[in-house]
Amino acid sequence: HATHRRREFTDNDGHPVGYGRMLRKEDPRFVRGQGKYVDDVVLPGMLHLAILRSPVAHARILSIDTSAAEAHPKVKAVVTGADLAKQGLAWMPTLSNDVQAVLVTDKVRFQGQEVAFVVAEDRYSARDALELIDVEYDVLPAVADVRNALAPDAPVIRDDLDGKKDNHCFDWETGDEAATAKVFDEAQVKVTQDMVYPRVHPAPMETCGCVADFERVAGKLTLWCTSQAPHAHRTLYALVAGIPEHKIRVISPDIGGGFGNKVPIYPGYVCSVVASIVTGKPVKWMEDRAENLISTGFARDYVMRGEIAATKDGRIQAIRTNVLADHGAFNGTAAPVKYPAGFFGVFTGSYDLDAAYCKMTAVYTNKAPGGVAYACSFRITEAVYLVERLVDCLAYELKMDPAELRRKNFIRPEQFPYTTQTGWVYDSGEYERTLDKAMELADYAGLRREQAQRREHGELMGIGMSFFTEAVGAGPRKDMDILGLGMADGCELRVHPTGKAVVRLSVQSQGQGHETTFAQIVAEELGIPPEDIDVVHGDTDNTPFGLGTYGSRSTPVSGAAAALVARKVRDKARIIASGMLECSIADLEWEKGSFHVTGDPTQSVTIQDIAMRAHGAGDLPEGLEAQICYNPENLTYPFGCYICVVDVDPGTAVVKVRKFVAVDDCGTQINPMIIEGQVQGGCAEGVGMALMQMIAFDEDGNCLSASFMDYLIPTALEVPHWINGSTVTPSPHHPIGAKGVGESATVGSPPAVVNAVIDALAPFGIRHADMPLTPSRVWDAMQGHPTPS
Ligand code: CDP
Repeated sequence: HATHRRREFTDNDGHPVGYGRMLRKEDPRFVRGQGKYVDDVVLPGMLHLAILRSPVAHARILSIDTSAAEAHPKVKAVVTGADLAKQGLAWMPTLSNDVQAVLVTDKVRFQGQEVAFVVAEDRYSARDALELIDVEYDVLPAVADVRNALAPDAPVIRDDLDGKKDNHCFDWETGDEAATAKVFDEAQVKVTQDMVYPRVHPAPMETCGCVADFERVAGKLTLWCTSQAPHAHRTLYALVAGIPEHKIRVISPDIGGGFGNKVPIYPGYVCSVVASIVTGKPVKWMEDRAENLISTGFARDYVMRGEIAATKDGRIQAIRTNVLADHGAFNGTAAPVKYPAGFFGVFTGSYDLDAAYCKMTAVYTNKAPGGVAYACSFRITEAVYLVERLVDCLAYELKMDPAELRRKNFIRPEQFPYTTQTGWVYDSGEYERTLDKAMELADYAGLRREQAQRREHGELMGIGMSFFTEAVGAGPRKDMDILGLGMADGCELRVHPTGKAVVRLSVQSQGQGHETTFAQIVAEELGIPPEDIDVVHGDTDNTPFGLGTYGSRSTPVSGAAAALVARKVRDKARIIASGMLECSIADLEWEKGSFHVTGDPTQSVTIQDIAMRAHGAGDLPEGLEAQICYNPENLTYPFGCYICVVDVDPGTAVVKVRKFVAVDDCGTQINPMIIEGQVQGGCAEGVGMALMQMIAFDEDGNCLSASFMDYLIPTALEVPHWINGSTVTPSPHHPIGAKGVGESATVGSPPAVVNAVIDALAPFGIRHADMPLTPSRVWDAMQGHPTPS
């Protein structure tokens, strides 16, 4: 029977399929300039949309005169908030149960807010016509600093909300306040540190945009869109615009980076849909860089007071924190509904504590809405920064080595699954092994010796460590939900008669290499070579429903779905094989890629043989195909240890990152090469956040970081040669033991860099300075001046 003898498929390192360092299947397309992005979509008769944005942060609109713009020969339509209001479309829901203006009707609430749009025959005419719109603004005082938002005389930003008399957005708490207070009252050592995680921006290389094409006769809307969650977006459009869901097709083609920025629905998408409905033509809208930086989802913006309690010999007992969270003008946070502060609750870190408590107050300010999970699982970056800075502050007070302080307080392997003091159930971990590996790779002892020598010569060398635990794979339906949809993911797998396969996913790659790794998962389960497996994603008409890609959830959720759907197909293949080999199912043994009769390996059929016989075989109702929806049992908890070495120039206060070691544990590794790439990219982002990035505002709410001249992106010149390492602690509940990894480095690297800089500044007696540690801030710190954050 065995017409196709099983080949031994190997990756570039000679490892058998499917896991391993396989080169990325999508890269030939990208490196040859053949990627197809939203802006590459050109349709016959397509019009172009441009948005008029407010130049001020807070103002009542007295009048808008669009007559001159309408008279422009190439303009097809000019639409204001008043026009949208007539259709009931001037406001839209956010992902956090707030509302956000699509176009301003009453007053502007942040600089860059959408005031009107123009549709014209070409992009340049649309932009020219914006200048012909005359808006009269009655400028109001603005609240740009979160610390002033609750002052009794602060101007009320959200007077659109019934009875709203202040800028309070929500309160949230977690942990046990009384138990934590008791530990603090009795503790031998207490350290308090104020710190700010400034507003930063995901700044993907490709800005946001879409092409909306509403076919009037068919009543069908096709939306090519820079979306990390095409299915969830489709449902939201159906609910808001009233277009039936089956008449909406959302296509996310190649996406030039998302990092959380492409999770929310922005007014520009809605305007484009309206424009296509109004004009009966396809309409394209693409932001420019300044629009992306001033108006789309920011991240962080937390003002935190952290407290840590310990014994004199360094046993950490409790952590307590009070957070003031800046949510901008509308609460546009993208997080599961039950978690208004995202997963900030994991601020207890990787340590075995007696108590923990967090109290948070979120407020509105005259700044762009957002609070997206920028390359982290819903606010874990802020949580990890808090705990990892606090541990270093404690080490400073106790005069203990920060690595040893961490080691002493780790959750031990036998304690997993471990329930934290804030109720998170960490699935698995062997923290000390990872710490040891990082210290060995970095030659930690040697670095400390070198540092002592350099200090004698007045040189400022710093060694910083962070040890993080992430919580990724949102999420179990019992706890996690967005829009009532749950957070499960679907997967469909079909094996064609010649043994080639197509796997359809509900998640959406924005550069993470899913076309490779998901093929590898199926390859590993079925023994079909990964190059024979096509991965389809990003098109709601051609993929099963699911919540999309953010928060490193693809592998924990969709990766599990891919493995399970392949196993379902394998079970069907077994039935067919038993018919082909004329034996009972129980007598068949699976060896990657083929079944053979137990005890007689010569009696075998390959998966390809089976595929050829699958259609109409036996009692099987379908061919060799299956579908699944995977609702995860728990999150997965990847972790890692990062060590950063910096040199600070005593004369200029410029920080140079000299060395960076990243040891990650994301359970079973599908493609170690892709994992390293993900980690290196995230570490580069971390260096950016720690040393150079901040979306800053003046006191009138003018955004001071609206271009890459002001909002700095680290280049190869600013980052070191990365040293990667790994340990493998599989997740016990994931079908292949994999945990997510995409965002581990963005979470773990900022505190490592900051800890290194503060360590370098130890001769000045400095315990903390706020990010970004630009030369001027480091210089101020060296002069003993507090950070003006
Ligand atoms: O959701 P997102 O794709 O951003 O994050 P992820 O699930 O952590 O995956 C990022 C990339 O790393 C994907 O291509 C994964 O398949 C790959 N990965 C892996 O090879 N092994 C793991 N254990 C986790 C992720």
